[in-house]
Amino acid sequence: MCGIIGYTGNKEATPILLKGLSQLEYRGYDSSGIAVSNGETGVSVRKASGKLESLVSNIRHDYPSGNLGIGHTRWATHGKNTENNAHPHGDCTGNILVVHNGIVENHSALKDELNKNGHTFVSETDSEVIPHLIEAILQSDCTLEEATLMAARQLEGSQAIVVMSKSEPEKLLALRIGNAGGITVGYGEDEVVIASDMTAIIPHTKKVNFLSDGEMVSTTPSNTKFFTLNGEEFNKTPQTLSYDPVSIARGGFKHFMLKEIHEQPESIISTLRGRVIFGSSNILLEEIPLDKKTLRDMNRVVLVAMGTSFHAALVGQHMIEQLSGIPATAENASEFRNRNPIIDEKTLVISISQSGETTDTLLAMETALNNKATVLTISNVEESQASRLAQGNIYLRSGPEIGVASTKTFTCSMEALYILSAYLGRQNGFLSEEMLREKLMDLEKLPDKLGRITSGSKSYIKLAEIYHDTSNFLYLGRGINYPIALEGALKLKEISYIHAEGFPAGEIKHGPIALIDENIPVVAIVTSGKMREKMVNNIHEVKTRGGKIIAIATEGDEEIETLADHTIYIPDATEMLTPLLTTIPLQLLAYHIAVKRGCDVDQPRNLAKTVTVE
Ligand code: AGP
Repeated sequence: MCGIIGYTGNKEATPILLKGLSQLEYRGYDSSGIAVSNGETGVSVRKASGKLESLVSNIRHDYPSGNLGIGHTRWATHGKNTENNAHPHGDCTGNILVVHNGIVENHSALKDELNKNGHTFVSETDSEVIPHLIEAILQSDCTLEEATLMAARQLEGSQAIVVMSKSEPEKLLALRIGNAGGITVGYGEDEVVIASDMTAIIPHTKKVNFLSDGEMVSTTPSNTKFFTLNGEEFNKTPQTLSYDPVSIARGGFKHFMLKEIHEQPESIISTLRGRVIFGSSNILLEEIPLDKKTLRDMNRVVLVAMGTSFHAALVGQHMIEQLSGIPATAENASEFRNRNPIIDEKTLVISISQSGETTDTLLAMETALNNKATVLTISNVEESQASRLAQGNIYLRSGPEIGVASTKTFTCSMEALYILSAYLGRQNGFLSEEMLREKLMDLEKLPDKLGRITSGSKSYIKLAEIYHDTSNFLYLGRGINYPIALEGALKLKEISYIHAEGFPAGEIKHGPIALIDENIPVVAIVTSGKMREKMVNNIHEVKTRGGKIIAIATEGDEEIETLADHTIYIPDATEMLTPLLTTIPLQLLAYHIAVKRGCDVDQPRNLAKTVTVE
């Protein structure tokens, strides 16, 4: 899950590559590098370990000039975060240079063979075999395109690759094998930009092509050709994107994560827009091209996802069952596809992935399709791989999410699941017209309620002052708020590096209660509804053992304040929608603790925004 970029045109390549890499850095930031070709003086390669800013400051004193180049920002899989392992990687002569995303699964065998034939490797990466393979094939007198395709056919695993050659200083090649990562080709005026995703393309052009699995592009600024992996040339018509580049700026907030937390009242309106008309009993989901009979025949729903999206799936499981009456289970996508699940044409599989590019989730979708299930996806990227695999895509329209920790796409995913569940319920007759109208009305006040929660920060700053040095946190929830306990714990651990665990509160007596002492804060979600009394009992159990309680409670529930050490109130809402509210204080708590600890909130260590390896 690295970011890759290429440029060929009439402008200086270096600033374009660096700007593009800054937009792709969310995909990995262990090291970065560029190679720039200047027709007359050859190719200059610059690399640095660590974040992109190290490369940028190196280049300031040693600017590589030229009109063609490739760049890479790395999330390490094979080999440490050293400058040597940073991309681009070259062949023995430095003629071929390559940036790569994915894993060459048979790299050891290929490397042994190339070593025997006299090739010398300078890095510990799997990627370095690619330029050497191309070099070896080029010796048999073929074109760069032919050699690259022949090399690609020998690679096992999913890959996205961009190739340049010193001998062809206007030409870039890019290819995609499998689902490890996309390649977008953007056409400007006398220039072509190639990148892992649209964020790096949009500043230049909205006219693009997406490479599909098994396709290669070969391009100069004025001439673009497409090939299949077998070398057959074909035509591909470009499409025009709609995307607002201004919205990716931080907009006055200290971090993208904070900006994205504050965007939630707006982004949930965006998800609703055109789909729900308040006061009516109608949901418009034109993006789901399934007829009433197909939907009525579904006897089971399986939701697949990873990480935060998996927590949305767990919430969705409750929503599907309660609003459509269809039995539903949420499954970790990676586990699901590795256990030969029993599903058939009467199973509706819903994948949730903000990026639509998570390999485990894509593979789970493929498993479902191979078993004849109907597959829908919920994602925040309109032209993602997930959306292309699925029979229907509910596009979240949350706007780009740059912070590695998901926030607004989580709330929007839960909202999309609520809408989809109600839609299924109405289609199969589980919900009457009147019931549907009521369910939709419950959504109406949600943006305003979210806005009230995001507006204050004082109490979180105070909590961060008290608890930022704590080593462990527990999060407890029940029912539809149990997944929010998991999500609260995930948010805290990923951005503050504090160990945190979420539990269904009923579970604590079965073991975790042994952890409770005066040093452990316990975040308890104790909102009004059928779980409240049981949660109050859990709070007593923790307090009796000296634990500190941070309670998330419903406004007006004054009793909680007398039990808990700290109480954060959220507005009242129908129980099924409370997860969209209770998650926000937990995002803010994690954020302020991480800031107080001096952590890199938007780019936490060891993580990447999009996980394109299994
Ligand atoms: C959440 O904060 C993490 N960034 C991570 O768990 C993420 O939700 C997971 O990798 C799935 O990503 P997706 O939604 O893009 O598929």
